[in-house]
Amino acid sequence: MKKLIIVGSNGMLGQELIKVFKKDKNYQVIAWTRRDLDITHKNEVIKKIGAVKPNAIINAAAYNAVDKCEESKKEFELAKKINGLAPGFLAKAAKKSQAIFVHYSTDYIFDGISTVNGFNENSKPNPINKYGQTKLLGEIETKKNTNEYYIIRLSWLFGKPALTKNAKQSFFNIMLELGKKNKVVKVTNDEIGCFTYAPDLAQKTKEIIDDKKPYGIYHITNSGACNRYEAVVELYKQARLKVKIIPVKSDEFPALAKRPLFSVLLNTKLKPLRSWQKALKEYLWNLKKRN
Ligand SMILES: NC(=O)c1ccc[n+]([C@@H]2O[C@H](COP(=O)([O-])OP(=O)(O)OC[C@H]3O[C@@H](n4cnc5c(N)ncnc54)[C@H](OP(=O)(O)O)[C@@H]3O)[C@@H](O)[C@H]2O)c1
Repeated sequence: MKKLIIVGSNGMLGQELIKVFKKDKNYQVIAWTRRDLDITHKNEVIKKIGAVKPNAIINAAAYNAVDKCEESKKEFELAKKINGLAPGFLAKAAKKSQAIFVHYSTDYIFDGISTVNGFNENSKPNPINKYGQTKLLGEIETKKNTNEYYIIRLSWLFGKPALTKNAKQSFFNIMLELGKKNKVVKVTNDEIGCFTYAPDLAQKTKEIIDDKKPYGIYHITNSGACNRYEAVVELYKQARLKVKIIPVKSDEFPALAKRPLFSVLLNTKLKPLRSWQKALKEYLWNLKKRN
């Protein structure tokens, strides 16, 4: 029986990781929310993990408020602790227990301008916002503290929102609500990326661990790149919402944080996931069953 600790277990991804690993009787899943373990408390991280001596640790905890991170020094410092320094504490604790460490990162570590096809696992990071800087620091701290790591980069995550009050909603959730309340919506058509369905990512994470893939950096998203306008056209078609969708440029929605306009993650190491359209279909089906 392998002991697996999942931290940030109430999150969008955390919940799906629990489901996937609990189905396998070879794993004893120890799921910790922020209340069980605040990953920014180094001594507690080392002590609590040391007491369990896990075989693997998965870090699904994060600070994801991309715009808030630009708002004040205080928020940036908090994001740096959660996204940047804490992965180093977890990696260190993993090394002490001889456990493998899985950490998640983002397309926002790239600038979105230095390539035509997309960014592969070896492309040079150059974050253009503070959130991206904190996530890049998390990668650096992970590598500094252990060799037995999987850093998995993903983008535009969607799935069941985190269990916390005021949890961050995915783009699809936000657009679905807007589509139910409005006859016309405006959506940007100049931001191109890839969607990642949380249950698919959780499953692929398990495959990486079970297959003992070489340690290192992986890119996991659902197949197919699109812009946000195209994504909403597909969303409303599948959800049968009759809404007029107007494509606009992203400067119509000024935000505090700059976003890369082109952040396609290229996966050169793993079998590709199903298309985002198929994943979206499953997501909407499950949403209908829940409501
Ligand atoms: N969402 C996206 O579009 C996206 C895109 C690219 C990459 N990612 C990455 O994917 C991973 C999973 O993201 P997600 O969307 O599933 O996140 P999420 O839904 O926001 O969940 C994050 C979880 O982390 C917990 N957490 C925050 N601070 C913590 C701390 N100090 N100690 C312990 N737990 C803490 C939160 O607990 P509370 O709720 O109690 O605060 C929450 O349950 C993250 O690494 C994220 O950066 C996400």
